[in-house]
Amino acid sequence: MRRTSVCSVILGTALAVAAFSNVLAQGRSANDGVYTAEQAKRGEMVYTDMCAACHDPMLIGGVGPALTGKDFFTAWKEMSVGDLFTKIKTEMPLTAPGTLTPDQAADVVSYILSFNKFPAGSTALGTDPAPLKEVKITEPKSASRGTVPSGGLSADARAFLPGASHEVSKTVALGGSAHR
Ligand code: HEC
Repeated sequence: MRRTSVCSVILGTALAVAAFSNVLAQGRSANDGVYTAEQAKRGEMVYTDMCAACHDPMLIGGVGPALTGKDFFTAWKEMSVGDLFTKIKTEMPLTAPGTLTPDQAADVVSYILSFNKFPAGSTALGTDPAPLKEVKITEPKSASRGTVPSGGLSADARAFLPGASHEVSKTVALGGSAHR
């Protein structure tokens, strides 16, 4: 039973990847409105209940690593939303891995994207990691353009530049106050 479903998941995954790589030759990124605002709202509740104790209510990290800011994007910008989904779905919360429902995992991923100022869209983030693997995290557009005045991440983008590391602590403070 279990084996059959694993097989069909693998087959389904292969088919989905093939289909998506055709359609999405250009590739999508988290900047393309890949989750809905409602999902992010639900995800915030999941996060508060099950993640904030270790990753901090403002996502700046504690027992677990930060899920926002320079370190997070250094680690994740080359990865996909699917990678993030799978990491969370299979390994988090650390004390009870695998206990999130697929919807809860998608919701909490949406919340993390939203917190990091990736734009919401009209299509919900799915719970199948295969197509999500085609969606690169990159960095929020606002950060790479550096034009958003209020968000923490434009300051964060500057923190990537040499000699600007003093911006990092400021980023955390800005990101914090901007969110509340
Ligand atoms: C008991 C503490 C704890 C809880 C609760 C917890 N985490 Fe974690 N988390 C960690 C630790 C420690 C790591 C680093 C080790 C690892 O990657 O497995 C981590 C790693 C991560 C990473 C990878 C970060 C990176 O840059 O590598 C993500 C994403 C993440 N957690 C998300 C979540 C989410 C979402 C929840 C809630 C559903 C959650 N965590 C709940 C402790 C926790």
